[in-house]
Amino acid sequence: MRILVIGNGAREHALAYSLSQDPSVEEVHVSPGNAGMAAIATLHPAGDAVELASEVQADLVVIGPEIPLVAGVADELRAAGFAVFGPSKQAAQIEGSKAFAKDVMARAGVATAQAQSVPVGATDSDIDAALNNFGPMYVVKDDGLAGGKGVVVTADRAAALAHIKAVHEGGNPVLLETFLDGPEVSLFCLVDGETVVPLLPAQDHKRVGENDEGPNTGGMGAYTPLPWLPEDGVQRIVDEVCRPVAKQMVADGVPFNGLLYAGLAWGKNGPSVVEFNCRFGDPETQAVLELLETPLGGVLNAVARGELKSLPELEWKDGYALTVVLAAEGYPESPKTGEVITGADAGSESKGIRAAGVAEEDGKLVSAGGRVINVIGSGATLEEARDNAYRVMDSVNLPGGHFRRDIALPAVEGRISI
Ligand code: GLY
Repeated sequence: MRILVIGNGAREHALAYSLSQDPSVEEVHVSPGNAGMAAIATLHPAGDAVELASEVQADLVVIGPEIPLVAGVADELRAAGFAVFGPSKQAAQIEGSKAFAKDVMARAGVATAQAQSVPVGATDSDIDAALNNFGPMYVVKDDGLAGGKGVVVTADRAAALAHIKAVHEGGNPVLLETFLDGPEVSLFCLVDGETVVPLLPAQDHKRVGENDEGPNTGGMGAYTPLPWLPEDGVQRIVDEVCRPVAKQMVADGVPFNGLLYAGLAWGKNGPSVVEFNCRFGDPETQAVLELLETPLGGVLNAVARGELKSLPELEWKDGYALTVVLAAEGYPESPKTGEVITGADAGSESKGIRAAGVAEEDGKLVSAGGRVINVIGSGATLEEARDNAYRVMDSVNLPGGHFRRDIALPAVEGRISI
């Protein structure tokens, strides 16, 4: 198979690397990709996806990020005859429109937070009245695509108000939600119409600082599986959340094909949906794919061709995997770019390195974004996975760079209870 991956982050690096290890995959192309993945894939500048898929004669196109999905790139590719892993523009609304997602969940009987939209142009007294209906804690979401970075969760009413104003100034409506208590779970499901196949459950660490302090980011690290999740946890999420939503979308004439990412809080009654995404999560994917034994190309191709139902059960490696994100100085507010990175050159995949915001300048790898490098560690225990990941992280250098030392630590120390 010749596969074209669209996207440029560590998630796409992880996808491209796993695809390159699949014996049925002859060529991996990535557009635009990044300089850190040049050893395992042919990189192409960003451009028209249909033209590029034709040029490389792609047997399968895998769309990584939500922006092209929400824009309808999967539909354009399908119309041109390509097999695509990724939902249609209409189905991608499960991430692109919070109102769409809430409506599907309400009709599918799926537990989620109560929400109220605060439109651009709302008066100060409208905003005040809306805040009175919630919090503290206040959950204030940018109701546009914000790459996981548009959410502020705070007990401070002034901070909630400031975020509402900032989102409105950016031209997007705000969604206020009730705070869902309980540890968070990211469950990725392969979905092909009504067929739903879960991957391993993971947990992301969204705050920039250790002990979950500081602003939300796109994700500073993740681990899988979750030792604290009840034994029937994944099955419950599939039965109570993902399958009802997939069935509802089929019934609505908007079938989902691709990766449905359920972001959940596990409360006293079990799983409640915080949000859905229409694509693999970043950075959870980097850890989850590390444990997938079944070759990835065949899996994604089966979904794309509507054959998920006949795919043999997925096989997983034993143990745990963990990923830690090295972020640039100033991330998430104003990341500094152009710093030389050492210890993470292209071709470092077997060490567990996946590149995100990097570029090549004068033959050197330099930082070019907020989240710069991911390292992955695996092991028989979470402690071992942590040791392995941090050993690699300590061999990478990015001036001013920062990362969290406590990824998976609450789980290792038994501090997560449900
Ligand atoms: N891990 C958060 C996200 O992918 O949106």
